[in-house]
Amino acid sequence: MCGIVGYVGTKPAQSILVNGLARLEYRGYDSAGIAIIDGSKIGVTKTAGRVADLISSIAADQGSYTGSVGIGHTRWATHGAPVTKNAHPHSDCSQNVAVVHNGIIENYMQLRDELIAAGHTFTSDTDTEVVAHLVEQMGDEPLEIIVRNIMEKAEGALAIGVVRASDPDLIVAARRGSPLVIGFGDGESFLASDIPAILEHTRRIAIVGDDNVVSLTPGGVSITDLAGNPVEPVVRDIEWDLESAERGGYDDFMLKEIYEQPKALTDTLAGRIDDHYRIHLPELDLTPREARAIDKVFVVACGTSYHAGLMAKYAIERWTRLPVEIDIASEFRYRDPVLDDRTMVIGMSQSGETADTLAAIEYAQAQGAYVVATTNVVDSSMARVADSVLYTRAGPEIGVASTKTFVCQLVLMQILALYLAQIRGALDGATVEVMAKSIRALPDQVEKLLERADDIMEQARKYTDVKDVFFLGRGVSFPIALEGALKLKEIAYVRAEGYPAGEMKHGPIALIEKGVLVVGVATKSHLHAKTLSNMEEMKARAATLFMVLTEGDTEGQRLADDVAWVPPAPELIAPVTAVIPLQLFAYAISKAKGLDVDKPRNLAKTVTVE
Ligand code: F6R
Repeated sequence: MCGIVGYVGTKPAQSILVNGLARLEYRGYDSAGIAIIDGSKIGVTKTAGRVADLISSIAADQGSYTGSVGIGHTRWATHGAPVTKNAHPHSDCSQNVAVVHNGIIENYMQLRDELIAAGHTFTSDTDTEVVAHLVEQMGDEPLEIIVRNIMEKAEGALAIGVVRASDPDLIVAARRGSPLVIGFGDGESFLASDIPAILEHTRRIAIVGDDNVVSLTPGGVSITDLAGNPVEPVVRDIEWDLESAERGGYDDFMLKEIYEQPKALTDTLAGRIDDHYRIHLPELDLTPREARAIDKVFVVACGTSYHAGLMAKYAIERWTRLPVEIDIASEFRYRDPVLDDRTMVIGMSQSGETADTLAAIEYAQAQGAYVVATTNVVDSSMARVADSVLYTRAGPEIGVASTKTFVCQLVLMQILALYLAQIRGALDGATVEVMAKSIRALPDQVEKLLERADDIMEQARKYTDVKDVFFLGRGVSFPIALEGALKLKEIAYVRAEGYPAGEMKHGPIALIEKGVLVVGVATKSHLHAKTLSNMEEMKARAATLFMVLTEGDTEGQRLADDVAWVPPAPELIAPVTAVIPLQLFAYAISKAKGLDVDKPRNLAKTVTVE
């Protein structure tokens, strides 16, 4: 997730671009840059760091560029470390083209090899740079036709903005998947990943459609589809103020991030399941032989990441038959666990900076274990320490309570488990295919589920004054119960306990009485009937039951006071959708209590202390 901005008009482009980037920094902030057409050449200024660092670089660049056409970018690294050479805009060999890009070009390696064979020299590690060289390679064709060709060639979700020195009054942009908007002004046109970047200049905005190519000039905007047919923009007048525009019109970042989950999942899956439903994880830097030599796995993490790790234990054990231990990082690092060079230790962390998880993987590495980090932040401390890094590609998460990064951690662990099963021969191809198909269906399923978000929140608000809540689940629903309880504790300040449903009778059931709410995660699984029996036990003691059930489960519905329905999925895939009603549940109660969901008391997004 990166931020793109563009301007064509008569005013100096530089300050418009830089101010736009400052508004897009929430989309990524590891490097920033601008390219401005200045006479017959393109001036590029870019740097690792934040937009503030870019402003210093521009100031240091005495001859800052004065042109009125340019593009800018703030980066959230996916391919290549967050260093200046990988910052956007990227140029071709002759510096006549500049490109900004958001998203992932899945077949960039192949395109890059072809371009190198044709004599192009690359200066970055990014997938983006192929676009600049492709423009150069296609010669003097109109830029709009070239961009259409590139969109045909490039696989994956992407948004691009391109300028060329020989077209001094033109930006051409295109998108597939990744967002892009255009703004209409008088004698000027604007381009951006998101509305806040241009809202101070114009309120007349249109969303660019998928596989549309846009030509922006001072005189206006023209849009075509990939076949060159004209497309009429749907222009809207935006009424939001700037602050709510930064949250995409949502009340809070947490809600925005809940709604971003389909896109976050799509990006995390990109390139990892092929059309034959085989799993690919080239980042796991292990030969099949080395992967087969692993005889034990540990997962270490904290908080929400620990709950994703717990799900990973179920998936890896079931699919690979490798034994998996799961540990809270602050326990693992001091308990002298038994590790050796045949142990894989997976450190899971959204931030990649959590002190305990970082120390745990450093400890494991010192014992000779093979360390895999999974994180959402490219080049974070854990990414630098680990032997291999698997990235979730959720984009920056700003709400303190993790939501979109959690579902991405779940699918990434499902992918890792299937990949290990595939190379170890632990699962047959047909089973991998069934699971991979179900994983691929998740972004759409989550999208559909979110269409019912208002209903789920309405149901949840009935429980605003609840004081005691148990979240129960069995098997792979147990980590989801733990996560539901954590969400409610941290943002709604309700005492909530996540518990294995079958364990209640060994003590906690003494707490069940009228007025206690039990949230049962009872999606279809081989333990479904047992979970329902445990729910009966709660009901018999006068608890109120809010249940997460698989669509069509009339038996479960019969027991419940309230039901949140989720779509059918294989048992080990179902947690991804099952957690979403619980995120909405906590969110709705927190809002109903008038609390600050994005910044709950006593909490920090990244915990770099023990
Ligand atoms: C809860 C939450 C925290 C984090 C925990 C670990 O919503 O966000 O529990 O999961 O602090 O953080 P990371 O994943 O950055 O290591």
